[in-house]
Amino acid sequence: MMKPEGKPKIAILISGRGSNMSAIFDRIKDGSLPVEIVLVFSDKAVAEGLQKAREYGVRTETFSPSEFSSFSEYEARLVEVLKHAQAQWIVCAGYMRIIKKTLLENYQGRILNIHPSLLPSFRGLNAQKQAIEAGVKISGCTVHYVDEGVDSGQIIAQKAVEILDNDTLASLTQRILQAEHDTYWRAIKKVTYS
Ligand code: GRF
Repeated sequence: MMKPEGKPKIAILISGRGSNMSAIFDRIKDGSLPVEIVLVFSDKAVAEGLQKAREYGVRTETFSPSEFSSFSEYEARLVEVLKHAQAQWIVCAGYMRIIKKTLLENYQGRILNIHPSLLPSFRGLNAQKQAIEAGVKISGCTVHYVDEGVDSGQIIAQKAVEILDNDTLASLTQRILQAEHDTYWRAIKKVTYS
């Protein structure tokens, strides 16, 4: 891919709170991450993160698969919106949909996700709970490329988090989230500037 002029243009996909998105905004604001967020999209109109994005002054868009006759039509519309915004990279930050063919084909090798475990352990939902139940002493977070599988794409960055004897699901989730906030922006910088 040729090096485009200016800062890498990124769209962030969310479904909820958007704390990873906010952490990315913070690193852009303090100059650590020289990228442009051209769009924040949510498949849920009520997502808290949408309001945060608007406060940050970023363009937002929301629609849901239920408004379309098929998932691929939903994704085709999303691709249109992403292309219109000139997004070069897609950053999933708590986007609770599996990315399927239509979106994947249009952004091959350019979609990132963050997952709250050290992949390939504990794929899928409730990764922190899976780690506690498995009795492992170290978990963490992983930034990876998105492929056709679930949390199965090539790993870009990881950060380990120790699981303490007195950890609850809430305390572990919170510490992993802090690690996520410190990891995602570095991974974005690494891939968009390599
Ligand atoms: C994070 O734990 C992320 O790893 C997972 O979903 C959560 C999203 O949190 N994919 P937030 O919306 O970024 O606060």
